[in-house]
Amino acid sequence: MSAAHPWWYDAVVYQVYVRSFADAMPVPGDGIGDLPGITSRLPYLRELGVDALWITPFYTSPQKDHGYDVADYADVDPLFGTLADVDRLLETAHGLGLRVIVDLVPNHTSDQHAWFQAALAAEPGSPERARYLFRDGRGPDGAEPPNNWDSVFGGPAWTRVPDGQWYLHLFDTSQPDLDWRNPEVGDMFEGVLRFWLDRGVDGFRVDVAHGLYKEATLRDQVRPKKPKKAAESMVERVLNDEPMWDQPEVHDVYRRWRKVLDSYPGDRMAVAEAWTQTAASMAMFIRPDELHQAFNFGWLGTPWSATAFAEVITDSIAAVAAAASAPTWVLSNHDVERHPTRYGGGPVGLARGRAATLAMLALPGSAYLYQGEELGLEQVDVPPEARQDPSWFRTGQPGRDGCRVPLPWSGEAPPYGFGGPDGAQPWIPQPADWADLTVAAQDADPGSTLAFYRRALAARRAVFAGADEATVASAEGGLLVVRRAGVTVVLNAGSTPVPLPEGEVLISSAAVPGGLLPPDTAAWIR
Ligand code: NOJ
Repeated sequence: MSAAHPWWYDAVVYQVYVRSFADAMPVPGDGIGDLPGITSRLPYLRELGVDALWITPFYTSPQKDHGYDVADYADVDPLFGTLADVDRLLETAHGLGLRVIVDLVPNHTSDQHAWFQAALAAEPGSPERARYLFRDGRGPDGAEPPNNWDSVFGGPAWTRVPDGQWYLHLFDTSQPDLDWRNPEVGDMFEGVLRFWLDRGVDGFRVDVAHGLYKEATLRDQVRPKKPKKAAESMVERVLNDEPMWDQPEVHDVYRRWRKVLDSYPGDRMAVAEAWTQTAASMAMFIRPDELHQAFNFGWLGTPWSATAFAEVITDSIAAVAAAASAPTWVLSNHDVERHPTRYGGGPVGLARGRAATLAMLALPGSAYLYQGEELGLEQVDVPPEARQDPSWFRTGQPGRDGCRVPLPWSGEAPPYGFGGPDGAQPWIPQPADWADLTVAAQDADPGSTLAFYRRALAARRAVFAGADEATVASAEGGLLVVRRAGVTVVLNAGSTPVPLPEGEVLISSAAVPGGLLPPDTAAWIR
């Protein structure tokens, strides 16, 4: 957005969940989104006004965790297209002035990866097994797992193989954790980075960036008193004992990657998905010689409260101030409940979602949007027989399918143009009442959420491009007040209308009649 900083510093990045964005192949579509589908909709993203897109994994994968189980890091799954489709996508995006961030999954591979298959075929103690965390079990005959760790998706984090050894998987059984203490692993990932950088990607989103290294002894975890539900365990952080996460050695990996990224022209970058316990531990991932950004999950987890919003804004800005980075802001992604639903659902949830978005877009740093939030989509209650999330199969909890329902583009009924005119029904069924939420339905309606997002993104460019960082956030009763670059941002999280500050209303998330800011509404005033 401004020339003073590299492009990512204050970019608005749109997250594309590849399976659910747009389905263009084969013809007619098979109900699963793909790379040609994304390419065909790039003009939509340009018109929306974002600066970049982050695409979730499209690599060769058995899709047990919908791409976060990679069998070949340097190829495209036929479900999504080919390497030539990646080239076309990059060329088209760059031609439209959009940057492209791809996903990198370094904590684990798929069990179908050639390394894991070789490990299964090899003896205990072999070099093939040493790329993963194979261990003997405890108890009589080694029939108990080597330690007490749980998988994030529920159940034990260990699975036994026929010769009696166990392997570690912090996620699904099909996602064996790599042993980052083995130098072969680091070398392999440097090759993967270079492979995609050479193809022209602008950056990487690093999956489970606080993972990779485990405490070397693989000791038992001192158990939390109240275990979290699988659905909460993805981003909600508490100060538990965690020998499986956030080990000091992981920072050397990012120092190595930073050197690789810096050796390419064009401000290539990486953003960490690091579920750290505090804003300060998050900031360690973005020290000047490490990654460029980290997702700010503190913002996503903030309850609907002016005091809580002001605190997170102040803490996040302070935590990154020491690094040569900028804060990031994120309200939704493919792992959490969509934010209008989190904020109460229905008209109130949507109004709050729009208000939180408008406040977020005024903050310094960069904002990450999740596909469908510009349409005001809510979390869908996916029927049990249609659920696909591995955590559902391991825990019986509803899981993450409800935020991954394919986008409605046009038409009156499912598949709402998702796979073109004759496309198949999508891989997760869409609700019957989405006709008013399609892109086509919202396109021409100035009151729609889509029109609001377009206006808000244009206003962000016009008002805050090149703005200085200095930001002061406070809570005055139920009112969040943020001052930056001569603009006052107000968000009413209380229950009664409040008078607007003096000045011109640049934009508001809903009508502000009679100089009053209604509850669940935000505005920028200058
Ligand atoms: C975080 C990703 O966002 C999530 O979708 C995935 O299941 C886990 N990492 C495991 O890779």
